[in-house]
Amino acid sequence: MPHTIVIFGASGDLTSRKLIPALYLLHRKKRLPPDTRIVGFARSDFSHEVWRSDLEKTTKQFEPKEFEEADWKTFASNIYYQSGDAKDPAAYAALNKLFTQIEPAGEVTRLYYLSTMPSLYAPAAQQLSAAGLVDESKGPRRLIIEKPFGVDRASAEALNHALHQVLKERQIYRIDHYLGKETVQNLLVLRFANMIFEPLWNRNFIEHVQITAAEEVTVGSRAGYYNNSGILRDMFQNHLLQLLMITAMEAPAKYNADLVRDEKVKVLRAVRPYREEDFATHTIRGQYDGYLQEKDVPAGSQTATFAALKLHVDNWRWSGVPFYLRSGKAMSCRTTQIVIQFREPPLMLFSEGSRRVEGNRLVIQVQPAEGIQLQMQSKVPDQGMRITQTALDFRFAKEFKGVLPEAYQRLLLDAMNGDASLFARSDEVELAWGIIDPILAGWNSSAAPPLDVYPRGEWGPERGTKWMEDQKREWFDVCPVLH
Ligand code: BG6
Repeated sequence: MPHTIVIFGASGDLTSRKLIPALYLLHRKKRLPPDTRIVGFARSDFSHEVWRSDLEKTTKQFEPKEFEEADWKTFASNIYYQSGDAKDPAAYAALNKLFTQIEPAGEVTRLYYLSTMPSLYAPAAQQLSAAGLVDESKGPRRLIIEKPFGVDRASAEALNHALHQVLKERQIYRIDHYLGKETVQNLLVLRFANMIFEPLWNRNFIEHVQITAAEEVTVGSRAGYYNNSGILRDMFQNHLLQLLMITAMEAPAKYNADLVRDEKVKVLRAVRPYREEDFATHTIRGQYDGYLQEKDVPAGSQTATFAALKLHVDNWRWSGVPFYLRSGKAMSCRTTQIVIQFREPPLMLFSEGSRRVEGNRLVIQVQPAEGIQLQMQSKVPDQGMRITQTALDFRFAKEFKGVLPEAYQRLLLDAMNGDASLFARSDEVELAWGIIDPILAGWNSSAAPPLDVYPRGEWGPERGTKWMEDQKREWFDVCPVLH
């Protein structure tokens, strides 16, 4: 079936940096369904040609190795532009007119990608509906929505409510780009396509789990947004909780959107709410040194750029196993990793003196240096029974040729094919806010932990390290080796 992808907020950064390069690469790999056209929609006044040539420049810039004149030409011949205000009904009439000019007769799948200011999500959906553009009598009509989906549970519920007035849930695709990452999908494969991990994947064998998304970058020029958001809204409500769900969920009966998401949602329902006294003992918050001097940061801002949370998933599989979630800006290096720390052996036959032998550790290296390492004890040759930590090391780059595709390629393709497995459902988003809201409130109350200033280029506040040591645990503070 022919496809039309309409990008709202087409003059924005995401379009030129991610969406168009992803669609171009899909075209180059011959993965875009034949007869796919792209329509940019934004307020600026461009002709089709000007927009195409702007995108040519940016795509060359962001995909220099993949850019090829002839491929671009065929791709660009299916790009169009319509200017208009997303709140103005006339703009939708103009869009409709353009569709009649560029789409073939008969059924067409249409995707409306909302990459606008969040305040336009609901109005755009309402206008699309009022103009008859989400009516499915002439093919599927789907709405893709970028983050942030609300700023708290109440606003997410209100947005869901507004969308459900005009669309069915199955028409709505809420993006969390972490789900588009190959290594995140591979976690499902690791767990549910292998026999050897799942029997151990529970409280009997796992001592704790660490999920870290560390970034080396600072907030840069994004403080206008970031200062109101902070690390919990920006990284935890979406990406870190997604990683938690996939790590902790039960196997779905089948791999389909609803059954996968049913299992994920059960994890969020099992997360134990914090009591007032837990904010100080179960959470750490920090702000990198120099944040207050960043452009657009108000004097005395209390926004956290680092957080670590200790969460419990109270169900039969995970009871008693802490999940540590941690993320921050301006940290030592860029690394996203899930560390499954197994228990220590019950009896150590080979210990030397008082040295503790560490339990096995499975490190899922989400990015960069994507791969999986299983750390285990091995005998050092020719040294009696001396043992040391070694690793079985699987790396995508070694095993598979070519670079791993960017998340948006997979997500756009899935949305075109009507597969919502890797998109967040309404209840998932609301429950995730239900976990984050009380922490934000706790941090605004007298029960809050201190906001520690941490030096740039380290693993967050010193208190975080001490906090783990006090619990007789240790962060896996290892920067991935890129080669
Ligand atoms: C975004 C956040 O959702 O994810 C950014 O708004 C963050 O602040 C980014 O830098 C991280 O994504 P990735 O794919 O680089 O890990």
